[in-house]
Amino acid sequence: MRSVLAIVCSVRSTLLALLLGFGLATTIHAQSAERYQSAPPSADGIGKVYQGREIAQMMGFDGAAWLERTERQKEERADLLIAELELKPGMAVADVGAGTGYYSRRMALEVGPKGLVYAIEVQPQMLRVLETTAKRPGYGNIVPVLGADDDVKLPEASIDLAVMVDVYHELAYPHEVLASIVRALRPGGRMVFVEYRGEDFRVPIKPLHKMTEQQVRLEAADQALVWERTARTLPWQHVVVFRRP
Ligand SMILES: C[S@@+](CC[C@H](N)C(=O)[O-])C[C@H]1O[C@@H](n2cnc3c(N)ncnc32)[C@H](O)[C@@H]1O
Repeated sequence: MRSVLAIVCSVRSTLLALLLGFGLATTIHAQSAERYQSAPPSADGIGKVYQGREIAQMMGFDGAAWLERTERQKEERADLLIAELELKPGMAVADVGAGTGYYSRRMALEVGPKGLVYAIEVQPQMLRVLETTAKRPGYGNIVPVLGADDDVKLPEASIDLAVMVDVYHELAYPHEVLASIVRALRPGGRMVFVEYRGEDFRVPIKPLHKMTEQQVRLEAADQALVWERTARTLPWQHVVVFRRP
């Protein structure tokens, strides 16, 4: 009799756990749906709006050559951007939306053989380029990672710094990706946004592919991040730095 009672209790608690789990999943889904609004898509947008900003279309692999263009150094001053990141040998850093690894390679040289650069991508073709780079001499500290649309897939408290260069404005799930980065940052770690300056009409980039500093700070305010400084030393981009307390 006692064993029948035990089975009935165990079935009831399993059912309860399943119902609670289902309820939680439904709540998370509902919160995510409320976070974003729909709008008629503009030419470069996906018709999804977050905090008043339409999300831009993702750059496909057909843009890979553009990421490696020779004029890029002059247009973006990659050397100045790397200096702004204040990287040190031995650091673990994440290049989220690494593309072909233009910045991952430069970061890899700064953090050195004892450091790590997680190069996170959602496009398998970009990932293959990163895997080839990681086999080249001097770049063995690059670790390509296949991320998800809503998660960078890094272990908790595993990195000192994360950077997104020309990426954040095209994330389909900006809130969720940023939350996953914050989880991956060690306490005191930095999150750095590098975006084409939306408030500068002279920057020759399509409007949805630029962001104002105000918009970046508005969206980051939803996360456990504290704004630290904004560098305006680059020709076209601003570097907006936050810290996980
Ligand atoms: C404009 S490219 C910039 C690439 C690189 N940061 C650079 O500056 O050379 C944007 C990249 O972000 C990637 N991306 C978009 N959504 C992503 C996500 N959720 N997680 C990781 N990468 C993503 C795209 O696949 C694309 O390669």
